[in-house]
Amino acid sequence: MEKNINEILREYEALQSRAEKEKKERAEKIHRKIPRIREIDDTISRLGLECTSYSIGLKPSEQKEYLEAFARKVEKLKHEKTALLKDHGYPPDYMEIKYQCQNCSDTGYIGQKKCACFRQRLIDRAYNQSNLGSVLSRENFGTFDINLFPDEKFQGHSKTPRQNMLDILSRCEAFTHNFEKDNGENLLLYGGTGLGKTFLCNCIAKKLLDKGKTVLYLTAFKLFRILEEYRFRPMDAAPNKEMLDFILTCDLLIIDDLGTELANSFTNSELFNIINTRLLERKKTIISTNLQPNDLIDIYGQRVFSRISARYRALEFYGHDLRM
Ligand SMILES: Nc1ncnc2c1ncn2[C@@H]1O[C@H](COP(=O)(O)OP(=O)(O)OP(=O)(O)O)[C@@H](O)[C@H]1O
Ligand SMILES: [Mg+2]
Ligand SMILES: [Zn+2]
Repeated sequence: MEKNINEILREYEALQSRAEKEKKERAEKIHRKIPRIREIDDTISRLGLECTSYSIGLKPSEQKEYLEAFARKVEKLKHEKTALLKDHGYPPDYMEIKYQCQNCSDTGYIGQKKCACFRQRLIDRAYNQSNLGSVLSRENFGTFDINLFPDEKFQGHSKTPRQNMLDILSRCEAFTHNFEKDNGENLLLYGGTGLGKTFLCNCIAKKLLDKGKTVLYLTAFKLFRILEEYRFRPMDAAPNKEMLDFILTCDLLIIDDLGTELANSFTNSELFNIINTRLLERKKTIISTNLQPNDLIDIYGQRVFSRISARYRALEFYGHDLRM
């Protein structure tokens, strides 16, 4: 974890110097193209210097007036600059520095606290999630193809698979829109194999990552392996609480393929702990499974089942296996 933190801090330094370099290059280009902007920039920095040295010698009452006059002058110059940029077809913020993360200016910190983007980088490293990016560029709300779902009745269901999928889709979109609202809705996606459950998990993950939320995607198999390593072989697993904290506190946890792991009393109590803690912390969770909701009682017990049935919206997937 230490190693990861140091590497991430180096990434941030690289991002910052790149942002500064790019800003400088844009400024030089504009200064060459639009000499008046160079004059304006020079004047603004000269005024700034004068202002600090001159205002020190003033009485407080004079100081206020002086600073206001200074601010007005600068404002006017900036206005002229923006207008010039616009005339030449550049956006008003073209000469500003552009960070990847607006919240922390690519420092990774907001005050003393780690920015969400820092936490996400830690998560990606800790769970080798970095390849998630390429999956998410293929599977997202933009690439969702409703035509894959036939509009014909399916085995006694009242809605066709397509109508059903449209409902599921709007539920999932609502989930991302209402993510910050405290209505406590979590999702249980269940149904047969190859029906688009993982695809929708990815759609939601991408949307929320783009909003700056921390998202951890794990198959149940991997989740329980991590937990087992943590509990039973702490020496090998480089014991660190931060790993486990992510599972409990990331903004969205996706547990995919629940039921494919070998359930035992250990996995059951761990699953209960995760589901329960996240509910108490008001952190959202999505579970996908091939099991029917009622099977969850037999496998994971009443305590897990009752929380899922009370606090998760169950969305049933049905139709023909898309992989066929
Ligand atoms: N809405 C969609 N648009 C385009 N492709 C889709 C869509 N839904 C699913 N697919 C594709 O169909 C295949 C099966 O989907 P997916 O992996 O999401 O199924 P699943 O329900 O998670 O299955 P399993 O239960 O076996 O994990 C994948 O290749 C996926 O990319
Ligand atoms: Mg799947
Ligand atoms: Zn940030």
